[in-house]
Amino acid sequence: MSGVKIDGKIIAQSVKDRVKNAVTELKNHGISPCLATILIGDDPASATYVRNKHIACEEVGISTKDHKLDANITQSELTKIIDELNSDNSVHGILVQLPLPKQLDEFTTTSRISPLKDVDGLTPHNAGLLAMKKAALIACTPSGVMEMFDYHGIDLEGKNVLLINRSNLVGKPLYHLLLDKNATVITCHSKTKDLTELCKSADIIITAVGDRNKFTLTSEMIKEGAVVIDVAISRFQEKLVGDSDYEDIIQKASFATPVPGGVGPMTVAMLLKNTITAASLSTQIGK
Ligand code: GUN
Repeated sequence: MSGVKIDGKIIAQSVKDRVKNAVTELKNHGISPCLATILIGDDPASATYVRNKHIACEEVGISTKDHKLDANITQSELTKIIDELNSDNSVHGILVQLPLPKQLDEFTTTSRISPLKDVDGLTPHNAGLLAMKKAALIACTPSGVMEMFDYHGIDLEGKNVLLINRSNLVGKPLYHLLLDKNATVITCHSKTKDLTELCKSADIIITAVGDRNKFTLTSEMIKEGAVVIDVAISRFQEKLVGDSDYEDIIQKASFATPVPGGVGPMTVAMLLKNTITAASLSTQIGK
């Protein structure tokens, strides 16, 4: 058996088409959506991700403000820039690209962003709302994964879903989103015992380890007809890879994502969606 490819590029395009219409609508109401990005230091992968986010914004008519900051910037200097963007009415979304250089604290940084402009869904306010099923701004990669399930009509109710990640950006938001769809969710991490056995019994596996030296998901580790969503992207043997080899997994899975071209484009598309949500929220203040 060979399963169906979940093509992130196609699904992301359908999201972008909807965003483009929403941008036109907002502009007709005198709002020109704008995303501000902050990139600190010179990590080439982060620079590429931010560049792709800018290109995508341009495609749908969202304007951007680009802040490239020195790797040695202090926490208080960064806070000042975030505060300026928080009070700039022409900016609707703020994204600080992660990871940060060592001298900067991730929580201090992300929680400084106004919850109304928090297009990453990382502030305590928005993360808390998500846990209570009330969030308007949800982390982009998790909401992108949910969009993929939706696009293919993959029903989550009663399914055993194995999450191999517990980060604030991926595992934790996904846990809530999946639970809200009545899935039974197990969250695994580096200290989890018998990971292979857990993989074998899962209906759906969402994996985001990102280090092939530590973990590779193979077709022998999944059950026939499982759904595999590979969120990871890392360089291994001169190639960009996920936690699994798509060609191997798809022999046994009912649905699977390739890397690249799977979850990655969804993260960008959902960022655009969050930016127009934030732009809409800005008009509702005081109403
Ligand atoms: N680094 C890797 N993924 C992300 C993301 O979704 N948002 C931010 N801000 N940084 C990231």
